[in-house]
Amino acid sequence: MPPQPPAAAPWRALFLSGLEKSSASSFTLSTIAHSNNPAKPPVPRARTVEFRGFFPKPASSLHQSALDALKAQGIGLNPEVYESELFAITTDRRMGKVGQIAGSGASGDSRGGEGGEEAVEGVFWFEEGVMTQWRVRGKGVTIGGDGAGEEGVRQRIFRRMRVVEGANRESISEEVKKWEWERQVTTYFASHTPAMRGSYKNPTPGTPRSQNPSNPQWKLNQKVEDLQDPAARENFRVLVILPEEVERLDLSNPEDVRRTRWTFVEDESGGKWEETELWP
Ligand SMILES: Cc1cc2nc3c(=O)[nH]c(=O)nc-3n(C[C@H](O)[C@H](O)[C@H](O)COP(=O)(O)O)c2cc1C
Repeated sequence: MPPQPPAAAPWRALFLSGLEKSSASSFTLSTIAHSNNPAKPPVPRARTVEFRGFFPKPASSLHQSALDALKAQGIGLNPEVYESELFAITTDRRMGKVGQIAGSGASGDSRGGEGGEEAVEGVFWFEEGVMTQWRVRGKGVTIGGDGAGEEGVRQRIFRRMRVVEGANRESISEEVKKWEWERQVTTYFASHTPAMRGSYKNPTPGTPRSQNPSNPQWKLNQKVEDLQDPAARENFRVLVILPEEVERLDLSNPEDVRRTRWTFVEDESGGKWEETELWP
């Protein structure tokens, strides 16, 4: 059983209700890009990404065809025993953001996440009927590879997970034993359409189109039914944001603009959120 951080974050319900009302599904994710040349300063990078919900994605949120594929291919479904306020997105390890949070320069030398390389900020704008901006600052980590560093990352994620509220403590201790990390990553992969899964076998994103892919398996418009397709899974990653500071700017009432900051303070019991009301 993971340590039990206090119940849901105080901003969780507000955030989820804004997300639902505005029908927003994407946000802007920024990272810091370091140059291999120490004389050059780090620069910001930002892009649009699709929010895949809080980690771990529950199997019940999947489309029926994804559930069928998970069962038919012998992977099965993780029990819905955990929840968190960790923001998840899916991505391709060959894209810039993955190297940027790992702190590797163009030469691929890893700085191992030291010196703030994991720093990310996500910005959501919930417009329709909500008029609220959310900024999420914290650390970005990836899972889905079999790299040596994965165990440490899993532990960091695990420390911020909790058993679902209201769960029966007796039966849940049996259920949590059936929960597996690999199956969770595959659940995210399964949540994509076969065409989207195929994009993980595209030629290397961001390289010149005039260059032939170094791997002959990398082509556009492939469809992947096999959830363990080695070439696609080699590149597929789940990027998890461990939020440290969440800020809400509520513009819904122009005469009473509200800006609220919640800061996560880790402690022995897992951690707690401290709320501060700010001048807008
Ligand atoms: C609406 C929309 C949603 C997107 N969702 C994702 C996503 O979930 N994950 C992702 O890696 N890229 C996504 N992209 C593509 C990114 O914006 C970006 O082009 C790509 O990730 C490469 O960026 P990078 O090299 O800076 O990492 C999305 C783009 C748009 C316009």
